[in-house]
Formats: sequence, C-alpha cells, structure tokens
Amino acid sequence: MPAIKSLPESFQWGYATASYQIEGSPDADGKGPSIWDTHTHKPNITIDGLTGDTATESYKLWREDIALLKSYGVTAHRFSLSWSRIIPEGSRHSRVNQAGIDYYRNYIQELLKNGIRPYVTLYHWDLPDALDKSYEGWLNKEEIVQDFVYYAETCFAAFGDLVRDWITLNEPWCVANLGYGTGVNAPGRSSDRKRCPTGDSKKEPWIVIHNQILAHAYAVEAYNKTFREAQGGQIGVSLDSFWFIPYDDEPENVAAAQRAMDFRLGLLADPIYKGAYPSSMKKILGDRLPDFTPEEVEVLRASSSDFFGLNTYTTMFVKDGGVSDVLGVVTNTFTGKDGGVIGRESHVGWMRDSFASLPTTLRLTAWTQRYQKPIFVTENGFPAKGENDKPFEEAIKDADRVAYFRGYVNAMLDASVEDGVDVRGYFAWTLLDNFEWADGYTTRFGCTYVDFKTQKRTPKDSAIFLNDVSFGLISLQ
Ligand code: NOJ
Repeated sequence: MPAIKSLPESFQWGYATASYQIEGSPDADGKGPSIWDTHTHKPNITIDGLTGDTATESYKLWREDIALLKSYGVTAHRFSLSWSRIIPEGSRHSRVNQAGIDYYRNYIQELLKNGIRPYVTLYHWDLPDALDKSYEGWLNKEEIVQDFVYYAETCFAAFGDLVRDWITLNEPWCVANLGYGTGVNAPGRSSDRKRCPTGDSKKEPWIVIHNQILAHAYAVEAYNKTFREAQGGQIGVSLDSFWFIPYDDEPENVAAAQRAMDFRLGLLADPIYKGAYPSSMKKILGDRLPDFTPEEVEVLRASSSDFFGLNTYTTMFVKDGGVSDVLGVVTNTFTGKDGGVIGRESHVGWMRDSFASLPTTLRLTAWTQRYQKPIFVTENGFPAKGENDKPFEEAIKDADRVAYFRGYVNAMLDASVEDGVDVRGYFAWTLLDNFEWADGYTTRFGCTYVDFKTQKRTPKDSAIFLNDVSFGLISLQ
C-alpha cells in the first residue's frame, strides 16, 4: 500500500532548518551579534576554526531555497527566526528592527505563495549576544523569561497573520548541556578552565533547563492570552531525545535506562506536559535543581503545549554504572559500544556508538504520546560517515541516508497505523548541508549537496526518495 494512504490526509511533509546554520550575513540589515557569532570567533572552538559567517548564504539565496523546497514537493517547512535580526540587542528595553521583520515576512509570504505551510521556531540556539554579556542570558531567570516573552510576542504580532504553527524552543537539553555543561556549544560555559574562566558544569545546566521551561511556558501563556483566538494557531516545543533501552532484563539495567530517559527527555517533557520534574531528578540532583514556585506550576499546568515536537535521531542501549558522557556522569549509566550492536556508520560520535539505524526507533519514540499530545517529528536525519571526503558524484548517491529514512519513516507508519499514535507531520533534518555547529562544515546532514565554494545546491538521492515517499510513489512496506 502506498505510504501516503496510510497517513492522515492532513499529514505534513517537509524539511527543517535553523537560522545560524544556513543564513550567513551576520551583520546584514541591522542584525546584532548572537552568542554563536561570538562563540565561533573564539580560538579552538569549531573544527578548522570555521564559523557560520557564510554558511549556505541563505540570507541572500532564500528564493532559491524556497524554489528547491517547492521542487521537493513539501507541504510544510520548519525554520527558525534569528532573534538578533528582529531585536538586535535582544531585550524588551531595546529597539525592534523593522528590516529583520520585513525579511522574514517576505520569506514567509514566498513560502505561502508556493503552497508551503510555515512552521516557525522562535529559538534555535542563537541568543542575542547582548543578553549574555549584560546578564548571563539563560542563567538569569528574571530577565531572560521576560525578554523571551517580549520577543515571542513581537513575533506573534509581526507574523501571526501568516503563521499558524509555532515552536518556542529547539532542543533545550542541548542548549543547557552543551552550552553550559561541556561548553562545546555557545555560550561555551563549563567547569573546564581551559574553555571558560567561570562556568560550573554541575550547576548551570539545571538552571538553564529550568529557565527555558519557564520561558516556554510564559510564551505559551502570552500566546493564549492575546493571540490564540484571533490567529487560530497552535504552539509547541521541539524536544530531542536519544531513546534508551535497557541492555538486558537485569533490574538495575532497566532502572538505568529509565534514569537516562528521565534525564534526557523527562526533565523537560514532564514539567511542560505534567507540571513537575521526574522524581529521580530531584533525588539525584538535590539542591542543584531549582524548584518551581506555586504560581509557575500553575502556568505550566495551564499553558503546556498543543503538540509534542520530537527531534529523534538514534537509540542507545544502557547499562547501570560507569559513565560514558555528560549524561552518564549524572545518572551513573553507561551507553555506547559496550552496550551492544553498533548501528549504520555515522559521521558523528553521538550516533556512531548507537543504533542510528534501528528501524523501530521512531516507533518507540512515538510513545512520547504518553504525554497525550499529537506528535510532530520536527527533526530526523543522518550524517553518513565520510560523506564530506567523497567526491561530489559519490556524495549525492547517499544510499545510507536513504536506508536510514526508509527505516524511520516506516517505523512512523507503524506507529501511526498499527499503534494508533497521532503523528501529524515529519520534518527531515535537513534541507541543505550546512554549518553543523562545532563540527563546522565537516558533517553533512543535508538532503541537498552544497558546494561551499560556489554555493551550488544539488539534490541527493535522499531528497528524491523523500519526495517519492511523501507523494506515495514509493510503497514502504
Ligand atoms: C539537532 C539540532 O536541532 C540541529 O541544529 C542539528 O544540526 C542536528 N541536531 C544535527 O546534529
């Protein structure tokens, strides 16, 4: 049976992108610097010291990108707004930049003209640098929550006549743990004194998790109060999770997998959808985990989120004891090679030691529906090993990526059809090879090959595959 017949009529197919990873033009039309502009210009941060100054030049080539999306037959596109293009200094006391608003209005109008529905992410990691400099950004609850809400309201007012689908934050776990734990991501805070003179990896990630949850909840509250009725849209959040399964049936390994899930997904999803942190977190973190005030709990319970945006890439086996990464240190769990079989060969460490290609991963992760919200897969993608070193003709024949998508989309169908999970859309990561954060340009996730010297875009086999799947031309099962 063709795939499309098995999914609801209104199912959305598309790609996801993020402003800093594609736009380039860091100073154009009054944009202020973001923490990623600053971070990538420090020595020894990214591979080969590369920055997103150019990226895929999408700030200039956006019409070409939308034409590409159109040629791929998508029904929707998920992209993020750059906060510091819209409010260069970031804060509620500073100026809104009309040129930034005009740019994104033109972009959204062009999508709509082409029959593509915009799914807009407000925050995909590029905090205005001025907020980090003046009050330490996500560490400062009083300031950041108010500034984020002001920014969100500015966007609802500026684009809400055109946009129905909003995502507040992208992957708050990564913001907290990579930005304030390992310090690999911006703003680069960490206990590692070679990286950062003042960070505290034990405490700060939990404060940043907490403040992002509140920023999300108060932005949803603002949407509900002032914009929802007039605009008739929906609002949610994109949470990423590795999916953890116990290495075997030993009770301590089963418990370890649960701990890992609590600390990777539950820490955000439980407060956002149920109003409280998982009890295991309080037990392990004690005072390091801030408490919600009764007023905040009320806002969390009332605001929540209309849907669950799931960024899913891979699954890992978990054993009790020992540590393997930043998560393992806290939860006393081990994930990785020792855990079992290695998946399809990926270019990045966090996928290499896991079941990147475990076909049932998406089916399993779809059980995030236990939070009782409809699900959008807001990201799913694969960086094939060594793709960057291959000649162009070979790189565009990306059979590994096609196999990965085949497995995941199939599993999504199983979840939808056999398990009755309410999955409403799928956004592949990503439209273009782009600036993969600290990995610079060496890790390619794109379904379109980008020649970074000429900016020429060429569809890979995976783009053709996803196009065929979304039109039901390929039967998956
Ligand atoms: C998730 C992030 O949202 C995105 O920015 C990143 O490029 C992909 N994962 C791949 O690492």
